[in-house]
Amino acid sequence: MPTRLLLFPLLAFALACPLAAAPAPVSTDPAEVAARLAAIRTPPAPATPRINGARVVGARPEKPFLHRIPTTGERPLRWSVRGLPRGLELDPDTGIISGVTPAKKGTYTLRLRASNALGKTSAELDLVVGDTLALTPPMGWNNYNAFRLRISDSLIRAQADALVSSGLADHGYAYVNVDDAWEGVRAADGSIQGNERFPDMAALGAHIHSRGLKFGIYSSPGFETCGGFVGSLHYEEQDARAFASWGVDYLKYDWCSYIVDAGRLAADRHAELLPAHADRLRSLAAEYGPMRNDRRRPRPPEMSARMKEIEAEQKRLLSAIPAETLLAIERDIAVDAYRAMGRALEASGRDIVYSLCQYGEARVWEWGPEVGGHLWRTTRDITPRLSAILGIVNRQKGLEKWAGPGRWNDPDMLEIGNGALTPDEMHMQMTQWCVLAAPLLIGTDLTRLDPLVLGILANHEVIAVNQDRLGRQGWLLRKTGDAEIYVKPLEGGRWAVALFNRGEKPLVITFDRAELKLPAAAAVRDLWRQKDLPPSAPVTFVVAARGAEFVSVNPGEK
Ligand code: GAL
Repeated sequence: MPTRLLLFPLLAFALACPLAAAPAPVSTDPAEVAARLAAIRTPPAPATPRINGARVVGARPEKPFLHRIPTTGERPLRWSVRGLPRGLELDPDTGIISGVTPAKKGTYTLRLRASNALGKTSAELDLVVGDTLALTPPMGWNNYNAFRLRISDSLIRAQADALVSSGLADHGYAYVNVDDAWEGVRAADGSIQGNERFPDMAALGAHIHSRGLKFGIYSSPGFETCGGFVGSLHYEEQDARAFASWGVDYLKYDWCSYIVDAGRLAADRHAELLPAHADRLRSLAAEYGPMRNDRRRPRPPEMSARMKEIEAEQKRLLSAIPAETLLAIERDIAVDAYRAMGRALEASGRDIVYSLCQYGEARVWEWGPEVGGHLWRTTRDITPRLSAILGIVNRQKGLEKWAGPGRWNDPDMLEIGNGALTPDEMHMQMTQWCVLAAPLLIGTDLTRLDPLVLGILANHEVIAVNQDRLGRQGWLLRKTGDAEIYVKPLEGGRWAVALFNRGEKPLVITFDRAELKLPAAAAVRDLWRQKDLPPSAPVTFVVAARGAEFVSVNPGEK
């Protein structure tokens, strides 16, 4: 029963199990290396300059701004920009725009140029100064899928450097997000600080910014995080100010330990619904409070055991409430908890993208924007197995109407490069995340990328679907047995069409342009291979077992 999970998110600590989902070993076996090379679909980026990534970026007025123009092509490159508003400047040798956004709201069209010894290119970027951030799904990297809680300042710096040296940053990946396990204890004045593995959070932020990248961080609305580190409960404003002072650009805010507080709040606010249990819930919370505040680690075993008993009893008491009522209570509690940090971030003086992580409970997509959220997890944690990935995909159905610029459904991070995912399965996840307009947060070790993984993550035509300015989340158009066809409208009347084969054998999948009421002559392009398909109808692929193909359809001038 999903509504129960918000109050009891299946054992916080189990979720944060410190076993890393090991990145796939980079094989040296010649046959395997050859097979992986043969599976590469993405053509190499040309040596001539090409500007990649979103064509629109949102910012609030008078806020620090940083944007690295994602550009592929042989180095050295030089950049120029026309139309930069006062307060912003470009470093012509790095392509990094920085400064402070203008006070006046509006759209500033920046004309970007990049050149190298082999040629030049130009593109337009709309800087929309207004109230909305994340006008396209956030792109970047997060440590959790590859490293779980085993992280340090030097590991994060090395990954930030690799985001640039691998060329991924040239495709628009910009956020370097530190997940759980950076937190130290609070100082006497309540201020939060990094632990011994993160001695200077501001210096880490400065390092990330010096690469033109953005700095993401993690906390919880509860007293502690999923990994048992200190959370932001009752310190929301102070923490948001600290994050801003470190240069944080993105916060993932993870529910976990709100469990028993939520039980007490339910009793306080909805005593009428819990006539028999309100007092008991309050006394359980009162007993739990001092134990959770006890900073001894590991906790004495009898204390841990008692905490588990309390959690279990609370769960039992609340399960007497009808599901619809419990959903309303959960929603109330979660809205307040998330709004407290949302407001604090807005008042922090920086543009901080706000990622709500409470596993899709209490229909978060309905209230996420109202608490200041820009994206929200729709499901529980992903793992590097196709069955887990497809289970998550199934749960995105119907959510498309809640997504749009500044408000994204988040099916969790990419597992490409991790576990035993095959080349076809990795193409499948990337295709699916792009057609769903999902945030693209790479979850693998960037210092060990092989050409196949790099090619899957860095295909500019595939990414362009994800970053399309309309910000529409694609949906399932048709399912026939193991074949699924997803479609996503794109700017200019074009469509992206993704063909998935969930089965164990290759499958011929045909898409007819008429299914989208598109003219039979509409041009079709194979996005993975970056090739126009011969002008013929219908579009037919032999889609590999547990694999995907991806095309765009362009009806041409209207
Ligand atoms: C989980 C969350 C993961 C990760 C982890 C950290 O609840 O869903 O993405 O952040 O906590 O402990």
